[in-house]
Amino acid sequence: MTIALGVLISGRGSNLGALLDAIGDGRLDASVRLVVSNKAGAGGLARAEAAGVATCVLPHGAYPSREAFDAAVVDALRAAGVELVVLAGFMRLVTPVLLDAFPHRVLNIHPALLPAFPGVDAQRQALDYGVRVTGCTVHFVDAGTDTGPILLQETEPVHEDDTPASLSARLLVKEHALLVRAVGLVASGRVRVEVSPQGGRARVSIAGPP
Ligand code: GRF
Repeated sequence: MTIALGVLISGRGSNLGALLDAIGDGRLDASVRLVVSNKAGAGGLARAEAAGVATCVLPHGAYPSREAFDAAVVDALRAAGVELVVLAGFMRLVTPVLLDAFPHRVLNIHPALLPAFPGVDAQRQALDYGVRVTGCTVHFVDAGTDTGPILLQETEPVHEDDTPASLSARLLVKEHALLVRAVGLVASGRVRVEVSPQGGRARVSIAGPP
């Protein structure tokens, strides 16, 4: 069954574009029911509209708290019938109001090999640290910053002459492919998030071939 996606963005929306392209080509059995942006001018909004996808701008500054903002996001996502939420360049921390409404159903794409370099400017963090290999991660979102259970990762070598811009550009190509694969896996029903009864970190298991 085609999975109903809600995509949250704050900017240009190239990862959203990758999902829309993959759906358009028949490579991904999903449908984007709603794109929510917290920024009115986000480039990804035009991209969604061009694909005939419903959009909604919820300016976070108009809400008294993160929780109130997330409650408005949840209302919009539920009204659109969303089953899986994808944070694709969404530059807001989310609260349990969103996470509890979509348990183990919120994915994020991050431009580093988590748990290295969480938060903003991950590509610059990787260059400043001097790592030889970095990459990108798709993970389920929990209440921390880029700390949730990891679904998929892809590596990318760091070049001697890399700048944040050059590294970001190569990473973005890998992000697009990884996010499409990740959403496809969840849509296929092969992904389980396993929470140990003893506590500790939740882990993701993927049934069948990788
Ligand atoms: C990507 O690098 C993503 O990993 C990070 O924010 C950036 C968003 O890019 N979370 P785009 O808006 O999808 O083009």
